[in-house]
Amino acid sequence: MTGPVPFTLMIGGLAGWRRSGSRAEEARSLPFQAEIARRAEEVGFDALFIADVPFVDAATVTVPPYTHLEPITLLSALAAVTDRIGLIPTISSSYSQPYTVARQISSLQHLSNDRVGVNIVTSFQGERNYGYDTIPSPAERYARAAEFARVLDRLWASWEPGALAFDRAAGRYADPALVHTIDHVGEHFSVAGPLDVVPREKRPLIIQAGASDLGRALAADIADLVYTAQPTLATARTFLGELHSEIRARSRSVDEVAVLTGANVVLADTEERAREIRDEINGPLSYDIGRTRVSTQLGGADLTGLDLDEPIPVEVLPDVSTVQRRQGRFEVFRSLAVDERLTLRELIRRELGGAGHWSITGTPQTVADALEERVLGGGTDGFNISVPQFPEGPPLLFDALVPELKRRGLFRTDPPEQDLRRRFGLADRTAPTDAAAARAVATAP
Ligand SMILES: Cc1cc2nc3c(=O)[nH]c(=O)nc-3n(C[C@H](O)[C@H](O)[C@H](O)COP(=O)(O)O)c2cc1C
Repeated sequence: MTGPVPFTLMIGGLAGWRRSGSRAEEARSLPFQAEIARRAEEVGFDALFIADVPFVDAATVTVPPYTHLEPITLLSALAAVTDRIGLIPTISSSYSQPYTVARQISSLQHLSNDRVGVNIVTSFQGERNYGYDTIPSPAERYARAAEFARVLDRLWASWEPGALAFDRAAGRYADPALVHTIDHVGEHFSVAGPLDVVPREKRPLIIQAGASDLGRALAADIADLVYTAQPTLATARTFLGELHSEIRARSRSVDEVAVLTGANVVLADTEERAREIRDEINGPLSYDIGRTRVSTQLGGADLTGLDLDEPIPVEVLPDVSTVQRRQGRFEVFRSLAVDERLTLRELIRRELGGAGHWSITGTPQTVADALEERVLGGGTDGFNISVPQFPEGPPLLFDALVPELKRRGLFRTDPPEQDLRRRFGLADRTAPTDAAAARAVATAP
């Protein structure tokens, strides 16, 4: 028995769009998004997480683009129709300017009464939409991400508490002595500050989701929450152990950081029906598109001509150090291909069904068993649940799986704390983000 753990919900994907009644036509509509957000809030999810990949290949639009709506725009709308649930947009540090993002996030914090976290990612696709011919190396992207986080932090600190005076008689809106420039001049950004959108006193939570060595190092430096893709308990425990040592090495406490594992869930009344539905979702897919996507996940390995029912020959796999896009996800797919000897067909199904996240297929009881085992086995602090199953996935999640998790004491039954940091069970930070991020910039290769 464990206490309740945090749960976030990812409502971005519609991998099961071909199923009849999937509501794929509604994915970009506010009523559809609001309905799921309100139900998630009602049953007690801690936050909504919106993924973002600013890229679509014109040749592969026979499956939906990864992103249905730009996350900040979507969450601004959902802030207005919800009261308590946390709002976590994904932001690309590779393609965005920190001043723009700082004001967007501060605005969302005002409009939502401090319900915001920011998932800062080093984008792995979309470079040609942002003026690059080739994707910058992981080292460059992570160095930029560390500086990006540092500038955000300094902008959010550019107004001291109490700076707003509202002194009508004296004509002093704010006290200039408490509002500061930041005069940041770095490798990637020059930002004078202060921030024009007056920052909230509470900082938004910072989320990091990269899994490579550099990603883990950045997480240890700046993250409050870490999202991770861990298909097995064994890999999850290794990841957690490594992350914890890096956090301690920075004189931070592991209680300041919570790790949330992605879980892609398909549910039905019986195991057999759940497996059929997983097949219906993953089944009618294009194996040509899948082959390209698996090749990308495997660091560009040449899979042309490989039989769908063959495992991947080890010699076509590159060394992880040469992988430019996603070293973390390369390790996940490498392990599925080499350690578990999955065939190309199986890898394609994993990729299109959940992009390498932990997939759980079963009844509310067996799915709850799997989630519980992960927590009891010391593999995670909580979960980010994603549901590829439409139309019946969300109702099954809200009306069957969550009640089952509540019965087991794994999902909170009391109203969530208003304060996001406490909601995720996080201790106060021992190292200020600014100093930690400065160290990250200094030590980045
Ligand atoms: C649950 C989860 C969600 C993620 N969502 C996104 C996303 O929406 N957009 C993105 O660019 N990266 C996302 N990532 C992070 C990328 O996997 C990561 O930034 C990328 O793989 C490159 O970093 P790495 O090589 O350190 O893993 C997510 C990761 C996880 C575990």
